Amino acid sequence: MIYLKPQKCLMACAVLLFFLSNSQAQSKADLNLDQKITGVIKKMTLEEKIEMLHGNALFSSGGVKRLGIPELTCDDGPLGVREEVLRFDWKSANWTTDSATFLPNGSAIAATWNPAMARQYGVVLGQEANARKKIVMLAPAFNICRVPLNGRTYEYYSEDPYLNAQLAVQAVKGIQSQNVAACVKHYAVNNQEVNRNTVNAIVDERALREIYLPAFQAAIQEGNAYTIMSAYNKVNGRWCSENEYLLNTILKKEWGFKGAVISDWAGTHNTVAAANAGLDIEMGSSGPYDQWYFAKPLLAAVKAGKVSVKTIDEKVRRILWVMYHTSMSANHPAGSISTPAHNKAAYNIASESIVLLKNDKFLLPLKTKSIKSIAVIGDNATRTFALGGFGAGVKAKYEITALAGLKNKLGKTADIRFAQGYRANWLASKTLAQNEGYDKPDEALIAEAVALAKTTDVAILFIGSNREYESEGNDRKDLSLPFGEQALVDAVTKANANTIIVVTAGAPYDLNKIKKNNHTIVWSWFNGSEGGNALADVLTGKINPSGKLPFTFPAALKDSPAFALDTYPGDNMTAPYKEGILVGYRWFDTKKIDPLYCFGYGLSYTNFNYAGIKTDKKAYLPNQQVTVNVTVKNTGAVDGMETVQLYVSKAKSVVEKPEKELKAFKKLMIKSGQTANVVLRVPVQSLAYYNVKNKSWTVEPGQYRLLAGTSSRNIKQVAAITVKSK
Ligand code: BGC
Repeated sequence: MIYLKPQKCLMACAVLLFFLSNSQAQSKADLNLDQKITGVIKKMTLEEKIEMLHGNALFSSGGVKRLGIPELTCDDGPLGVREEVLRFDWKSANWTTDSATFLPNGSAIAATWNPAMARQYGVVLGQEANARKKIVMLAPAFNICRVPLNGRTYEYYSEDPYLNAQLAVQAVKGIQSQNVAACVKHYAVNNQEVNRNTVNAIVDERALREIYLPAFQAAIQEGNAYTIMSAYNKVNGRWCSENEYLLNTILKKEWGFKGAVISDWAGTHNTVAAANAGLDIEMGSSGPYDQWYFAKPLLAAVKAGKVSVKTIDEKVRRILWVMYHTSMSANHPAGSISTPAHNKAAYNIASESIVLLKNDKFLLPLKTKSIKSIAVIGDNATRTFALGGFGAGVKAKYEITALAGLKNKLGKTADIRFAQGYRANWLASKTLAQNEGYDKPDEALIAEAVALAKTTDVAILFIGSNREYESEGNDRKDLSLPFGEQALVDAVTKANANTIIVVTAGAPYDLNKIKKNNHTIVWSWFNGSEGGNALADVLTGKINPSGKLPFTFPAALKDSPAFALDTYPGDNMTAPYKEGILVGYRWFDTKKIDPLYCFGYGLSYTNFNYAGIKTDKKAYLPNQQVTVNVTVKNTGAVDGMETVQLYVSKAKSVVEKPEKELKAFKKLMIKSGQTANVVLRVPVQSLAYYNVKNKSWTVEPGQYRLLAGTSSRNIKQVAAITVKSK
């Protein structure tokens, strides 16, 4: 029996009443909306309904003018609101009002390990979408980074479902806080670009539930995402756009999704199968729009009794539900584009995403007082990343390059000179054969770079990839650094003892030789409008780096699961995901394979000491929550942010378990010399595995170890708990 003092009792009652009346008001509002939508549907002809179920231009589906229902307009993400293209053509519409904020790419956001950054990202996207009168933002994209070569790794977040989910939820909430619908994509198991339109991903139920679906589920259930995009590929034999199990059973029935399923562009393959399996809107690139699967053929299918009017009405209901939360909602915000606040958000995200990989000589932060000359070398120092390749980009209002960022910061005190270093000879529109020679060093450019590096106090070498080399539609063929960059690195490193390597890319690369030979390595991303300023601030110490890798960098491609098991890109258009749940670090840790850089890795200009891990109890029931306390002291001379990562490990289990799994994390600023008490919460339910026998989540009783660390391979504190069944 629990006794409450009268005062407390009153308060508890008031809180309860507040929640009850709030939820009653909520369900009343839902009911009213439902009735309103029913009324609208009743007024529509079948033809009008079907107009709403397919694209009528590149980025819109039909409305019903007669009833005041507008078109459903959309645009890409995720890097920002895409420039306006012609209504029926991918060519630019040549507007002068669509220059937008270029936001850091998905893996950059993931590297911040900071849900607040994902939230800021979403708010900017939502506000800019409103300014452009776009109702649906085709973002965020967070397919699991299963294969390090995937051309869209830069768009996606992470190899870990928990990190993915925490960020996806906030990105969705941020976008939708502006009455703009997020369209989470690509549902589901869309993990490679090679054969993406045809590949059949064979994935077992447990891996599906534990690895590939959690972020989608969280985006729907916690983030309340209004729309979702079905992926191009097949999952277990069925196209995602007509996958009854993914769409009707899991998404709509199990998760209670109330919004609309939109197909990826030209990713619909059938009328009746897709309509009955749960697809709501067919989108694509080119007309004639009235011939599409969800246009005249759908009308015919309804007339022939193959698709019921009830099914059509349900689709229209979902679209109207999205509209009443967005374009048809009261007080729809006007939006704004590329404002100082948006630029600041882009800067914040970029500055928290940069990962310090190595700083053995303590060359960083740069001793700006004594450095009088800097050689800035490499194509990536002057390149912008807002556009390129096949993927959606942004017509950036501006983009600060790395060179411009350094000049802004140090131009007055140091002589900064630039050398090209290499030629980025790769176009996504060309084949491998047509791009031949792209990996050859340019000896003349190397000689010029070496000559420059010999004369300066410091050489900063900007290498990596770009938006042509990492692109939608292609996967890379291997992990090697392109454009003869390694030869450039070797030569410049020899010429200047103070050479700093800055890699700009969106996915893992082979840095074996650089890790071995170079003392200073920084990792940056396609980091948005403010990328160059953020990078300069990290290099000079205004910002203490706090980014952590959101995926494993394998030492060799053959070490990573899909290659070790020879399941990529698959034979006969079939990719069996034989590694099951052992994706990313789950594989490397369980199989005891040393990666080049592990998941969660990233250094700081300061050091953090972990101590005193404790849990609030020793034993827990499945419906309880574990509260973990750990103290983290900043023992260095500068303030810094640390991401405390909490992994859970279960040695003995009735099912296969990864060596460890991320279950909580917290990023926080700790001032030099200070100690923070970090509290992490893990619901015992989140320790469950998906039990394929009874198709439910099962918490296994027994001993669990809680591992708190600064990366997945640098565990500092361990606690043990017991989970009891009763
Ligand atoms: C991509 C989607 C994108 C759509 C519209 C497709 O090729 O897979 O992510 O939203 O095009 O541009």
